[in-house]
Amino acid sequence: MSGDASITVAFERRFGGKPLICRAPGRINIIGAHADYNEGLVLPTTTALYTRVAIASRHDQRIRAWSENFGDGAEFDLPTLQRSDNRHWSDYVKAVVSVLQDTACIKSGFDILINGDLPLGGGLSSSASLETALGYALISIGGNEVDRRQLALLCQRAEAEFVGARCGIMDQYAISCGASGHATLLDCREIRHQDIPLPQGMDILVVDTGVKHELAAGGLNERREECEAAVAALQTVLPGIHALRDVTPGQLENNRELLGELLFTRSRHIVTELQRVREAATALAAGDVARVGALVSESHASSRDDYDVSCDELEALVEILSGCRGCHGARLVGAGFGGCAIGIFSPPYLEEAMNTVSAKYGRMLGRAPWMHAVRPSGPVDISLPA
Ligand code: GLA
Repeated sequence: MSGDASITVAFERRFGGKPLICRAPGRINIIGAHADYNEGLVLPTTTALYTRVAIASRHDQRIRAWSENFGDGAEFDLPTLQRSDNRHWSDYVKAVVSVLQDTACIKSGFDILINGDLPLGGGLSSSASLETALGYALISIGGNEVDRRQLALLCQRAEAEFVGARCGIMDQYAISCGASGHATLLDCREIRHQDIPLPQGMDILVVDTGVKHELAAGGLNERREECEAAVAALQTVLPGIHALRDVTPGQLENNRELLGELLFTRSRHIVTELQRVREAATALAAGDVARVGALVSESHASSRDDYDVSCDELEALVEILSGCRGCHGARLVGAGFGGCAIGIFSPPYLEEAMNTVSAKYGRMLGRAPWMHAVRPSGPVDISLPA
């Protein structure tokens, strides 16, 4: 049975009635680490691992939610929604409902069943995938047209304000607006993008370290504060700047002392990453997979040395990936602090690499690691019956 068919059956068994099904892919950020909340450029794509929601309106204010991944349910009432004290998965449901309530899209309660293929807390944006699938579904059952850009902004607000992870716009935007078979070159200041076709001669392998990136929300907020502190310091001498995106490498170098070593290295990662994203977009469009891979590896080194978001397991995995035949480069994905790494491969070598990584990293992990060959997917949408 397909994922869409089986979630329909599961919904009918649990709640009864015919649900609407929406599904949203996972996000793979090829390059552009932590550039989004610095108003920079990022280059993500999506993959055909989905979060599915089955949803049907109710006639009262009750919300009944069930997660198949957690084997756990939650019930609450509109209009007052409180975040749980212990980071519960249902906070994401409440978060999206709460921002949509502000736009008057939600008038009644609903039943919802959720299941997902993405590793949870693995850096592939399982949370943004859930938010956008749910947002899309709620707007649709309310009888409204979905504005995809607006959906991305609402879901980002949900995560930043309600859940409390002060993320940028990359994940929600890539999942809401990405095009099948393409990477999304997103300008996070203008909130505008260009689709770049992914070359035939490039495969992306994702491997999970097996370390949950539980620190990621705290770490992300801390990095964001460091970037804001760097901007505030630089504004004393460069009043025209608004974000690290506006700072040139030369200006940064000239203000090393003003910033101090920590804020200087954090800023250097962002300023150099912006250059790498621009170059990677050009290389990708030209089908220069080797250059894309080299930039991906440089991004990883900078994320580790300057931005300090790697960890021992990511280092081991990136080294194994990089040492595989046919690998052009490797890096951590998502916020870092654990989760997954990607390798950029020439297709003929992919299978050999999967065996090598499985054996070498599997030995360290004590079991076969989860891995996935990226299949760039269309964006969040309603799933129509086959
Ligand atoms: C997380 C955030 C994104 C982005 C990445 C790092 O996935 O949700 O907004 O900042 O980390 O690039």
